[in-house]
Amino acid sequence: MAHKASAIAPANIAFIKYWGQKDPKTFLPFNGSLSMNLSDCTTHTTVEFREDLTTDEIQIAFEGGAGASHAGPVENEFAPIRREDGDKHELAFAQVDRVKALAEITAGARVQSRNNFPADSGIASSASGFAALTLALVTAAGLNDLVKNHVALSTLVRAGGSVSAMRSVMDGFVEIAMTADGADCEARQVAPPDHWLLFDLVAVVNTTKKSVSSSAGHLRAETSPHFAKRLEDLKIRLPQCRQAIQARDFGILGHVMEEDALSMHQVMQTSDPPINYFMPETVALMEAVRQWRAEGLPVYFTIDAGPNVHVIVEESYVNTVREKLAYFPGVQRVIINHPAQSAHVVDDHLF
Ligand code: PMV
Repeated sequence: MAHKASAIAPANIAFIKYWGQKDPKTFLPFNGSLSMNLSDCTTHTTVEFREDLTTDEIQIAFEGGAGASHAGPVENEFAPIRREDGDKHELAFAQVDRVKALAEITAGARVQSRNNFPADSGIASSASGFAALTLALVTAAGLNDLVKNHVALSTLVRAGGSVSAMRSVMDGFVEIAMTADGADCEARQVAPPDHWLLFDLVAVVNTTKKSVSSSAGHLRAETSPHFAKRLEDLKIRLPQCRQAIQARDFGILGHVMEEDALSMHQVMQTSDPPINYFMPETVALMEAVRQWRAEGLPVYFTIDAGPNVHVIVEESYVNTVREKLAYFPGVQRVIINHPAQSAHVVDDHLF
């Protein structure tokens, strides 16, 4: 058994979003989804199993607090999280329990995790966080079959409670496909990172933790009168998105991704109780992207469960759009991502 291991995993941006759980116990989504792994929004996690520890310890260094600005990220200190805090904190401890049970480990686990981007604000930190945690756990536990088999690893990641994290354990562009009977789902690669040099410029307008977590939001999806229509539309939109990626058709991909983001936010805003992740800056950026497009710039947006706007462009327009975003009122920082490899084991330990 390795005892100590580290992994780095990317966040991902969903072009077709997962929103709503058919079975909250097994974290079964209602619909398939499709995303691109992000090169510059990553989580680095180290796990060590130690006989001298009587309880499990998890510490996280959240980046991008109040001091984040154009000057770049601010690295914060490691701080312990507690199981009692519920939501994704409780799920992280439960994932440690799950892997220890699988590997029959009785030793305590020490876990440290560092994000290089703001967490809980719509940049899929749960995706990178749970993918890195799970890969570091199974590697340290010596569960080598899981380290090598990324389909099985993604299933274990889902059991941990973050469906979007399933997409961070395969390289490049990744789909979560529902089985024909809708009773299960599986992660599949749509295309490797070098298939298409797309860029996701994340316009960061707010780095404070969102008011409603995605875990809580998923459970409200069905209360929206628009949810059934969304699921119906996805039967067409998801294959359209997959085909647009395969054919590198930016116009179709952009159209479909904006439509899907707005459809998800419509469901959120009409849930009971409603959830609004938009800030005035979010809306202004959406308008600006539409305006830039009307002026001939091929650029589209998508927005996750948070106020920050992901602006998607092809390589030749990165600098033009980066400049526009950097000087846009309210934009604190622009994070530039290209398609990335999935969660991988690294030699560099955090402790
Ligand atoms: O996997 P979760 O619980 O973090 O939910 C992710 C939800 C969205 O980011 C809004 C959409 C998605 O598919 O990534």
